[in-house]
Amino acid sequence: MSENHPSFPAKPDLEQLTPQQIVAQLDLYIIGQKEAKRNVAIALRNRWRRMSSPPEMRKEIVPNNILMIGATGVGKTEIARRLAKIADAPFIKVEASKFTEVGYVGRDVESMVRDLVDQSVALVKARKKEEVRLQAEQAVEDIILDTLIPPVHHRGGASSFPKQEQPDSEAMPSSDHELNQRTRERFREKIRNGELDERKIEIELNQNQLPNIGMIGGGIDDVSMMNIQEMIGNMMPRKARKRKISVGEAKKLLLEEEANKLIDMEEVKEEAIRKAQDLGIIFIDEIDKVASGRSGGSGPDVSREGVQRDLLPIVEGSTVNTKHGIISTDHILFIAAGAFHVAKPSDLIPELQGRFPIRVELQSLTQEDFYHILRTPKNALTKQYEAMLQAEGVELQFQDEALSEIARIAFEVNSEVENIGARRLQTVMSTLLNDLMFDVPDAIGPNAHIVITSEMVNEKLGGLVKNRDLSQYIL
Ligand SMILES: Nc1ncnc2c1ncn2[C@@H]1O[C@H](COP(=O)(O)OP(=O)(O)OP(=O)(O)O)[C@@H](O)[C@H]1O
Ligand SMILES: [Mg+2]
Repeated sequence: MSENHPSFPAKPDLEQLTPQQIVAQLDLYIIGQKEAKRNVAIALRNRWRRMSSPPEMRKEIVPNNILMIGATGVGKTEIARRLAKIADAPFIKVEASKFTEVGYVGRDVESMVRDLVDQSVALVKARKKEEVRLQAEQAVEDIILDTLIPPVHHRGGASSFPKQEQPDSEAMPSSDHELNQRTRERFREKIRNGELDERKIEIELNQNQLPNIGMIGGGIDDVSMMNIQEMIGNMMPRKARKRKISVGEAKKLLLEEEANKLIDMEEVKEEAIRKAQDLGIIFIDEIDKVASGRSGGSGPDVSREGVQRDLLPIVEGSTVNTKHGIISTDHILFIAAGAFHVAKPSDLIPELQGRFPIRVELQSLTQEDFYHILRTPKNALTKQYEAMLQAEGVELQFQDEALSEIARIAFEVNSEVENIGARRLQTVMSTLLNDLMFDVPDAIGPNAHIVITSEMVNEKLGGLVKNRDLSQYIL
């Protein structure tokens, strides 16, 4: 199942990602599940195809919503999450079953769209912040410099001299001015490279805390609630308060303030809505939990069917009010997933089945897959543990046979106790390495080199696996 992974430039352009390239990107993180990867890749590329087609046609082309069917821990969520990362798309995951909980009403299903927009706003804002960072950093340095070395000459602005005493720039001895400038530049350098991070300064910061009025009570929907919250937030005077903090901390706090000043929030919101609308991915997990059983008519089934009916217009395409603006859900990509052990996809109401035309079944993972999951993905568990111990100066290494053994044990426990898919690897690895993680750095110092062998694996885990009761609790 391990393909040869072609390597790619760090951040590939969505426009240039063909279905094959998308799959190759997914391959860097997910082992196997070829069908699922192919289908999400097509869905993603189809969006770009849609956006590149003539406007009349663009409106007609609907996204290919996907229904993923597969047991727990085989990569359903992981594939969707990675896909969103690759596409730099706003992404949220919701559990369909949460909408059947007591207290939820139909309208709440829309909250998934609002969450998506929030996510999109955060993405766009982070990117804009990155764009203005240099400029903001400069402004922050200026502010800090002003408190450390007040300028002797400040055109038209505040100055450390009272007005009448301040000479104009011509009259001022240029050497003073130059000296001041040079000192400031020298200190700018020191601020930038962190030399002054420990020094305390007194600085004005905007305190702008939103009061928490989440307890207003019933009869008010989410949107009005958010609007009220925002209104009150805007009404509160933004108090600038002097605080004594370290330069290092001031850099952080001021950067936030200055960056916010440089970002046009209206623009951010508009772009975020557009982005969520055209690129958003909503992952609806546990969709099988809202499929009605065959009994029909009883309480919980009614509410489950209700959730499905509430989902319909959103998946179908409708407009939703959010605090950032109105969004149309027509082209959001919906990926629904479920194990469908009890309920079957055909137990979903027909209208909803029709909204998820693409069905992909994920395969159960084999022992061989486990082995590769342990070592191959960019975020493989072995790599995670290696990195953690690297932080302590300890080198950790897994022998190949040890990995095979861990894979075998995980597979065995899955088949004998309960199949939780690749998640089993986490429990097995943590049990295996528990002592080591405790002993570093006290008992095992830096510069140690630890090799995990198959004997060690057997010694630690062999007994647990044989004893069903033990493995039930521990592995
Ligand atoms: N095919 C795979 N390749 C690599 N890692 C995997 C794979 N499948 C699962 N994993 C690992 O197992 C973890 C759980 O997988 P994931 O969250 O995708 O499960 P799921 O299929 O969504 O299960 P559930 O139905 O319980 O939500 C992931 O975080 C990932 O680390
Ligand atoms: Mg999942």
